[in-house]
Amino acid sequence: MQGKRILLGVTGGIAAYKSPDLVRRLREHGAEVQVVMTAAAREFVTATTFQAVSGRPVRTDLWDAAAEAAMGHIELARWAQLVLIAPASADFLARLAAGHADDLLSTLCLATEAPIAVAPAMNRVMWANAATRANVATLLQRNVQVLGPAEGDQACGEVGAGRMLEPLELADRAGIMLLGGGPLQGRRVLITAGPTRERIDPVRFISNRSSGKMGFAVAQAAREAGAEVVLVSGPVSLPTPAAVRRIDVESAADMLNAVLGEVDRTDIFISTAAVADYRPAAAAEQKIKKTSDRMDLSMERTADVLATVAARPNRPFVVGFAAETESVEQHARAKLLKKNLDMIAANEVGHDKAFDCEDNQLIVLWRAGRRDLARASKLTLARQLVALIAESYLVARTGIVQRGSALA
Ligand code: CTP
Repeated sequence: MQGKRILLGVTGGIAAYKSPDLVRRLREHGAEVQVVMTAAAREFVTATTFQAVSGRPVRTDLWDAAAEAAMGHIELARWAQLVLIAPASADFLARLAAGHADDLLSTLCLATEAPIAVAPAMNRVMWANAATRANVATLLQRNVQVLGPAEGDQACGEVGAGRMLEPLELADRAGIMLLGGGPLQGRRVLITAGPTRERIDPVRFISNRSSGKMGFAVAQAAREAGAEVVLVSGPVSLPTPAAVRRIDVESAADMLNAVLGEVDRTDIFISTAAVADYRPAAAAEQKIKKTSDRMDLSMERTADVLATVAARPNRPFVVGFAAETESVEQHARAKLLKKNLDMIAANEVGHDKAFDCEDNQLIVLWRAGRRDLARASKLTLARQLVALIAESYLVARTGIVQRGSALA
């Protein structure tokens, strides 16, 4: 970010107390940061604080004659290479979506040609409100990047989605935006995630312990790498990563249908879902009553979504996952060959490993090589995996291995 010019908008929310730290993180990366505060933001943090950490006078007012004489708001809008608004309150998202220009920050957003990113922070009910959802959808359509929010404890005492992302993560995401492009720019990536549910009767199903976290992290990482991302997800309780299109499904058959409906324009298919291998041969129409001491359930095989995609004539670059309890690498390599995959990411499961955990470790295999990705958070691993996939995809298309490539 050396020498990059970031305009940091601070709006009125309690998370504004973290924004001075964000300024410091951005400056540590070498960026120049000009802070613009709304009137409400000044109820939470003073301009003096931001001036001290940014090393620049803070701009607050569209009508400040002295500040306008030094650098007018249109010049300021041109100066910015990235506009980052953190925290972005529900009110500011609404005004941005509506195109208001009644204070300095909203005017700058309308007058700039730089990319805009917002880091929403608000009470979870305000975030879930249909009005906020509609505003965010409008902003996403206009290519505004929505960073977060995260889930967790809120200042209001509630727990849920609405926390501003941490300054460290926001600084990283700003860096990615400023680099522009990204290795998957212009590519379309289709990802499956989560478990499937196979119906036994109207109230019961067979499923597994997959939380979907790895697949959602891969979707976020692919989006950060510049790809257009479609995420086909089984039933999970996770928020959709920003600017990712999500299709919710329930059974293996639904997942196959959704994937086949999307796969045609796909460049890369990543199959992280823990798809059921068997389903009850016939789901009962009515709730099954207990009538005897034993009950036998007849099961039949489901379609293999990954193998079906890999067997298509004009198939995308195909990446599978393997969850194994023993001989991880050996079994995963056998799957790579059997299912005719381009790459497979294998992890050990069971004994409290991988499923429903925050972190993981992976062995990534392709025909000519392998790479160990050491234990880390699922998002860190997902970013490393996506970088490998992007390189490998390029090699598959061009036949050229870049010097210094991890694949060499
Ligand atoms: N997969 C799939 N559809 C299925 C089953 C699996 O798309 N019906 C995908 C998973 O998303 C994963 C990969 O296949 O990417 C590995 O699945 P796994 O069930 O571990 O492999 P199998 O070949 O079914 O082997 P196993 O006997 O270990 O179950």
